[in-house]
Amino acid sequence: MQRKILVTSALPYANGPIHLGHMVEYIQTDIWVRFQRMQGNECYFVCADDSHGTPIMLRARKENISPEALIRRYQKEHERDFSDFHVRFNNYYTTHSEENRELSEYIYLQLKKNGHIHRRIVRQAYDAREQMFLPDRFVKGTCPRCKSEDQYGDSCEKCGATYTPSDLINAVSVLSGLTPEQRESEHLFVRLSNFSEMLQQWITDELAQKEAKNKLKEWFDVGLNDWDISRDAPYFGFKIPEEKNKYFYVWLDAPIGYMASFKNLCDRENLDFDAYWKDGENTELYNFIGKDILYFHTLFWPAMLHGAGFRKPTDIYTHGFLTVNGKKMSKSRGTFVMARTYLDHLNPEYLRYYYAVKLNDRIEDLDLNLEDFIQRINSDLVGKVVNIASRCAKFIERGYSGKLSSQLDDIELYEKFAGARESIAASYENRTFSRGMREIMALADQANQYINDQKPWVIVRDSSKKEKLHQVCTQGINLFRVLIFYLAPVLPQLSKLTAEFLNQSIDRLEQVDSPLLNHRISPYTHLMHRVSKKSVNAMVRDSKDTGSVEKQPEKATVSIDDFAKIDLRTARILEASDVDNSRKLIELKVDLGSETKRIFAGIKGHYQPEALVGRNVVIVANLAARKMKFGVSEGMVLAAGDDAGLWLLEPADDIAPGTPVSWNCKIKITNCQRSLQSTGICPRHNARSVVTRVARIMQMRFTPKKRTSIAVHQVANLRFRHWQDCFIKQK
Ligand code: MSP
Ligand code: ZN
Repeated sequence: MQRKILVTSALPYANGPIHLGHMVEYIQTDIWVRFQRMQGNECYFVCADDSHGTPIMLRARKENISPEALIRRYQKEHERDFSDFHVRFNNYYTTHSEENRELSEYIYLQLKKNGHIHRRIVRQAYDAREQMFLPDRFVKGTCPRCKSEDQYGDSCEKCGATYTPSDLINAVSVLSGLTPEQRESEHLFVRLSNFSEMLQQWITDELAQKEAKNKLKEWFDVGLNDWDISRDAPYFGFKIPEEKNKYFYVWLDAPIGYMASFKNLCDRENLDFDAYWKDGENTELYNFIGKDILYFHTLFWPAMLHGAGFRKPTDIYTHGFLTVNGKKMSKSRGTFVMARTYLDHLNPEYLRYYYAVKLNDRIEDLDLNLEDFIQRINSDLVGKVVNIASRCAKFIERGYSGKLSSQLDDIELYEKFAGARESIAASYENRTFSRGMREIMALADQANQYINDQKPWVIVRDSSKKEKLHQVCTQGINLFRVLIFYLAPVLPQLSKLTAEFLNQSIDRLEQVDSPLLNHRISPYTHLMHRVSKKSVNAMVRDSKDTGSVEKQPEKATVSIDDFAKIDLRTARILEASDVDNSRKLIELKVDLGSETKRIFAGIKGHYQPEALVGRNVVIVANLAARKMKFGVSEGMVLAAGDDAGLWLLEPADDIAPGTPVSWNCKIKITNCQRSLQSTGICPRHNARSVVTRVARIMQMRFTPKKRTSIAVHQVANLRFRHWQDCFIKQK
């Protein structure tokens, strides 16, 4: 029986670009929707920009444009990003629409009529210069608990305390810098406790995710608070009917935006709106969301729907947050990657596949590890899947004018592939995509094994085995075909190219039940390229924001004599290895020119030991040796760093190991003369390497046969002058 399903992803705010964290959700939902359609179900997928609220109003003010112009710009940008990631909505709308206004007013008035709305005076931070009430995030000050400065008005990022803006010490308005006043204003509330029983029932009966149930139980145990749904002017949003100068809080009309977007689609395509929103209909409704907005979707949203006489969601599907390389996305590390920056460098299907590999039905966070990403795509998609087609297609093309045989070589193997359909479909249905991808890749391994065993490149040499070769390659193409059907929800572009290659549309999973035989296919063209490390690095580079270090507390002043006590020297790393059983340490052997030292440096995880060998660093050479669990450390390596990362201080690579780092150079110049022999050292500035280079370049200059470029001459001149300088001074 065909199911009728309406699916949504959360509505992104219209005041910033889409990033790879957002994309987890839109890709997850899109895969699920595409799968439903391949099962033959009717499935609509709608979304919209979340276009109301104070941040959007202020952002527009700052840019000196109207909020309408701002949200129009972001909506366009978002639509383009989603479309380029092959996320296909039936409708992408905005919450700032007539449909949404009507629905929001209707739902509110129903709630009011049914006695769920009441009024209360609240005291709130007010900015007298800007003449507006301040949302918690627009007040900053010192945390009342741990005394950390510069914390937001709702919670402390340092100690995790939660409070209200009036609890902050030395609170200031982010907008004007003034101390906010406390002013009173009448607000409207939804009495959530009226829905307590209904919600408990709905959660127990309908929500599938255990972690969500547990979280909700915690909230119920604390008790449900009334929900403040009104905001005072100035506000960018919908006016509340029957009130003066009050606006709906953005979170009231945001989820109603799901309905409004669908309404807009219904009007355009003549669909039945009520079939999906009236209570008691035989349709399904799913909201895909991130874990940070669970409260809104499992308490406020079903309460609003219920209170106004609409159906409740069939289930809410919640995912965790994205980390990159094991850490929170960070601008200074270059891991806060915008969707557009990714698209500038990489194929969107790589990310779709990688997220599929990582996603399951739980609310746990998922990690985009960039090394693993490259490795996965290259080994799974390019190395295993696409490879099958490229290994077989050329034989079919050349030997059989592109026509598949009328029989398979190994029917049983084919049936095994086709027989995996239900299990793979179950993985999609249950959102355990990672399990599904594993199963598909295990099949891909078997397909490759089959080809390795049959060796078409050997059979081809035996003209008596023409029929066999035909069937073997037809088998290979057919196994590949089944895999692409299974991957199609994840990789729509690859499946489109494959459909062209196979001359057969890829629509329904059940098509895999019968193999493709006696059928002309198109010449094989490359289906997918390998990911290069270079592109990934370029994407990270383009995502780096190097100018955003927070102001650090300054230390007490020291005298020059104090500073002079520290013997800083350049050193070259000779050996480096991770210290086993230590979370932080790398063991280094460094060259200081006249001696070597062993140093345990707390840089593990920031650098690969292999990548350190040969690098120049700065060390504190006269630091008292320290006995550690793993051995004695005889110095300290200097690095810059904060929460965002760690960078070794790195002197230019032509500096000699052991050179003092000093404010005036007092080293006596000695044997520069020997550099003439191209083996000596200029101790003042430079290492052996430079001098030998000078000698070598000079030789080149004086050998008429050898042509050197102007650039090289210029370098040589510089080096030569440097060397001359030293030489002359020494005399
Ligand atoms: N506007 C609200 C949603 C209203 S729905 C009626 C909102 N917008 S958002 O732009 O902040 O987030 C949109 C979706 O992206 C949310 O589901 C959110 O959980 C998800 N994500 C945002 N950052 C994310 C990660 N770093 N990782 C995974 N999902 C993330 O919330
Ligand atoms: Zn604190």
